[in-house]
Amino acid sequence: MNMSADISTNAYSISAWPDYPDLMGRLNALLKQPVRGIARQNMPQVLDYFEQKCKTSKALAERAKEVIPGGVQHNLAFNYPFAIAAAKVDGAYMWDEDGNRYIDFLQAGGPTILGSNYQPVRQKVHEIVESCGPVTGLLHEYEIKLAEIIRKYMPGIEMFRMLGSGTEAVMGAIRLARAHTGKKWVIKVGGDYHGWSDQMVYGMRVPGTGRREAHGIPKGSTAYTQEVFPNELGSLRRKLMLNKIRGGTAAVIVEPLGPESGTRPVTPEYNREVRKLCDEFGALLIFDEVVTGFRVGMGGGQGYFNVKPDITVFGKAITGGYPMAGGIGGRKEIMMTLAGGIGGKGGKRAFVGGTLSANPLSCVAGYYAIEEMARTGAPVLAGRAGDRLTAGLKEIMNRLGLPYVVYNMGSIVHLQTSAVLLMSMRNPIKLMREADARKHLMEEMGAAYLSRGILTLAGSRIYTSMADTDDVIDDALNRFEDVFKLV
Ligand SMILES: Cc1ncc(COP(=O)(O)O)c(C=O)c1O
Repeated sequence: MNMSADISTNAYSISAWPDYPDLMGRLNALLKQPVRGIARQNMPQVLDYFEQKCKTSKALAERAKEVIPGGVQHNLAFNYPFAIAAAKVDGAYMWDEDGNRYIDFLQAGGPTILGSNYQPVRQKVHEIVESCGPVTGLLHEYEIKLAEIIRKYMPGIEMFRMLGSGTEAVMGAIRLARAHTGKKWVIKVGGDYHGWSDQMVYGMRVPGTGRREAHGIPKGSTAYTQEVFPNELGSLRRKLMLNKIRGGTAAVIVEPLGPESGTRPVTPEYNREVRKLCDEFGALLIFDEVVTGFRVGMGGGQGYFNVKPDITVFGKAITGGYPMAGGIGGRKEIMMTLAGGIGGKGGKRAFVGGTLSANPLSCVAGYYAIEEMARTGAPVLAGRAGDRLTAGLKEIMNRLGLPYVVYNMGSIVHLQTSAVLLMSMRNPIKLMREADARKHLMEEMGAAYLSRGILTLAGSRIYTSMADTDDVIDDALNRFEDVFKLV
């Protein structure tokens, strides 16, 4: 077991930031190559696994298709050749409805840094549910304890307001920024994911695509949203300058590691430079720490880069994997615009709410998850597991002569076999011609990993957790090697 209790809570899970030019060189080389995945003659044995070993999942997937649009409810959910139904999770493992065990590198999409269904937190949740149920509608002490413990590890956050999801928190953060500054423009980075609110379905996944995904969203809703290409500070400055003469920029919102949790990594100086530009133009800087909050370290992305945002958005790990995971944090002077309660104090308010927001269940789960992460040094341990996995995968891919690219930011491991997430509107013809084939390759790789007992996020991202001991990682490496031999 690679777990020890002497890890400083100020330590970060990321041991070194990826060498940007080298990494982009390797990713661009992969993008230039023709699609290279599981050999056609080997694909039947991958699919055979699902037919033979996943019969219950298959039956459930058929039922699901009748009553659930697309048969799955998450946008990056595994559904090729069909969705696998989970029956049990524990630490590093997930078991499906047919009793097959998988090494769980999905970890629910990121929130469970302690590992799945972590017993000490579960016990505290049980106790609260026994005593006051999941929700009361009144103030509960754990709301205060959660806000206090967040402030302890992220000192820039003087106050915290809890909401229901990362999406809600982004909506609230933007409203707060507009109410506080009296300005209207919001600039995001193309490819960043900030949830699915009307104004943020803009330049989603692929930089430069603007409203391409904005079906059902009126033009007015995105009228004051702008995107800049990742890492391009010049165009950010130009947008800020232009906005100055037409109402001003309320906020620049970024994912601190770069779009899609570092799929397109930022340069080491990017966040600091964005901070400077925000200060120069009087815009607020919003860090979307939905993924990075506590995963990168107890101080989040802001601690790692030593850059203080004005507003921080939380989700996922803020409740340790329990429901209603969202929240906004920042300086008191800004946060007071989010004051709840009946009765006006005369001040302006950025209206947010939620019947179930800040319920005792979510708050107790978040409080103890954060306390346990600090006590055990979970972000650092998960990061070491990510380092070991990345080094092992690199060695296997070099030995087998595969062009794939693997890199990690601590416990976030990016395993790129198709580089589809690196495409952009800079090369629209390639995007049009190749995006579907590259996306399908990701699906096939995801299915092949699963057939060898490894669960990933969309076949291209891996979240490690504290439960990933050296033995778990070494076992996973053997399984990955089996898959790569099918290429
Ligand atoms: C960076 C980021 N922001 C916001 C969100 C939206 O959070 P939620 O799914 O809780 O609405 C996500 C979800 O994956 C995310 O990765």
